[in-house]
Amino acid sequence: GLNGEDKQSGLAKHNQSLTYDLFAPEIIANPYPLYKRIREEDPVHYEASLGYWILTRYQDVEAALRDERLSANRRTLFIQQLGNLDVSLIQNFLQLADNSMIEKDPPDHSRMRKLANQGFTTRALESWRGIIQKTTDTLLDQVQHQGYMDIVSDLSVPLPSLIIAKIFGVPESDRANLIQWATDISSFWGVPSGNNIEELAQKADTSAAQFTAFINQLVAERRQKPGTDMISLLTMAYTEQNLDFAELPSLCILILNAGRSTTTHLIPNGVSALLNHPQQLQKLKDNPALISSAIEEIIRYDSSVSFVFRIAKEDIEIGGQKILAGSVIALGLGAANHDPAKFTLADNFDIERSPNEHLGFGPGIHFCLGAVLARMELNICFSTLLKRFPNLQFDSTRPALPRRNTFVLKGFDALHVRF
Ligand code: HEM
Repeated sequence: GLNGEDKQSGLAKHNQSLTYDLFAPEIIANPYPLYKRIREEDPVHYEASLGYWILTRYQDVEAALRDERLSANRRTLFIQQLGNLDVSLIQNFLQLADNSMIEKDPPDHSRMRKLANQGFTTRALESWRGIIQKTTDTLLDQVQHQGYMDIVSDLSVPLPSLIIAKIFGVPESDRANLIQWATDISSFWGVPSGNNIEELAQKADTSAAQFTAFINQLVAERRQKPGTDMISLLTMAYTEQNLDFAELPSLCILILNAGRSTTTHLIPNGVSALLNHPQQLQKLKDNPALISSAIEEIIRYDSSVSFVFRIAKEDIEIGGQKILAGSVIALGLGAANHDPAKFTLADNFDIERSPNEHLGFGPGIHFCLGAVLARMELNICFSTLLKRFPNLQFDSTRPALPRRNTFVLKGFDALHVRF
């Protein structure tokens, strides 16, 4: 809660005693009222309990995403979180992390992004549409007969991983391994805390070594015999530029993991938003052409990615606050997307909202590389779900499960529905 107010002075508003509890159960359940309060009381807020700045206004978040004085390289932050862990134990992991485009600033980022774009050409994307439809249908076939499902474990967890594995052209017999390695790596990449950190580290490092070896082998094969899969496209892009392939395993793990948990958690958020707004759901069923607009509204209204993080490279000023070099800044995408200065009736869910310039994919140089693919996946997933299961509803025979206990990657641990 709010523990102090010091608005009268009009001087430095940076007030260490003004603190909010982002982990309170009612905030985890619905953080938007808190974001509203922060935006009104202290829009550029230093949260002492977390040790970083929080931006909540659309205007500030958007400007920060385009600000060259902010760095995306969060390595020092990550190393700090490791505490006493001996980093020589995670060399394979660190090699993947250090070559990751999402951590780079220009000029490295610009060079890497140009190459990465070659894996997402319009032609390639169109050729993957069938994969997405088939994967969605296969998962729904498995639950069709029972009349109920968990949106998370039956659909949104397996869907994005399987799609990327197929798009990479990974043989069926290797897909489970690939997904397991990616999961081990991302569990450690999150915020490693707690006393099993050594165990997580060891698992992540072993998986990083296996993942790297596996991708290197695929790259070698595709170099000899290129196909239309994404690994072939990326390998060709690197070959044309005469670059060595050391960065490719990093790019592959980034594509795999950036596209996995984001989509996994967005799908149940969207299903929940639709089921909680029956009139909107009915409108969409009556007019399936609204699906693209509905997907944009789902991303604005309740995206999985609530915050992205940056580090100040020099002393800067945002909204009258002085932020020192080295400070960590949490850019509130979720807060910005509910800012009434940008969106009329910002807390309303309106599948026909127009314009809808949400920040869900993070504008600026790190704008989601997979946005077109994500939109295609979500489009097909929601359309198919509603077409095949027109009576979709919350499963009232099962207890409602709380939200995931984090404010960064917002989602559900499970979401039971009937159809
Ligand atoms: C970057 C959101 C799906 C690949 C980002 C960023 C956001 C985002 C907010 C910016 C991160 C930052 O600035 O620090 C989402 C959401 C998704 C989604 C909400 C799903 C609903 C995907 C998919 C892929 C993908 C399916 C790939 C298959 C990437 C990559 C980056 C990125 C590689 C880093 C780009 C760079 O550093 O230049 N995404 N994403 N994302 N996303 Fe997505």
